[in-house]
Amino acid sequence: AQAGEIPDGEGIKIDAAVLGTVDDVAVFNDDGEFFALDDTCTHETASLSEGWVENGIVECPLHAGKFCLKDGAVQSMPATVDVACHRVIVSGADIRVVPN
Ligand code: FES
Repeated sequence: AQAGEIPDGEGIKIDAAVLGTVDDVAVFNDDGEFFALDDTCTHETASLSEGWVENGIVECPLHAGKFCLKDGAVQSMPATVDVACHRVIVSGADIRVVPN
């Protein structure tokens, strides 16, 4: 992905087939820092890339479960299971996801 494709406070979804991952991956821009988590919320099946990003947290768009962008740890109910986290390497305008 390119950094300019992801506005601050938002995420984009990268198809699993592109990355060779089991789940699609969401890449987020939180105030110029980039993070990657599995895209599917662990509570039900909402797409976290459509959630709200602020202060190191993404809030699920369906029931407002929250996850830490740094490690995928659950921050609030109704989600109870952490979401998988992936490494992000930023090089200039290029953002590369290294799947776990
Ligand atoms: Fe994400 Fe329910 S689907 S909190």
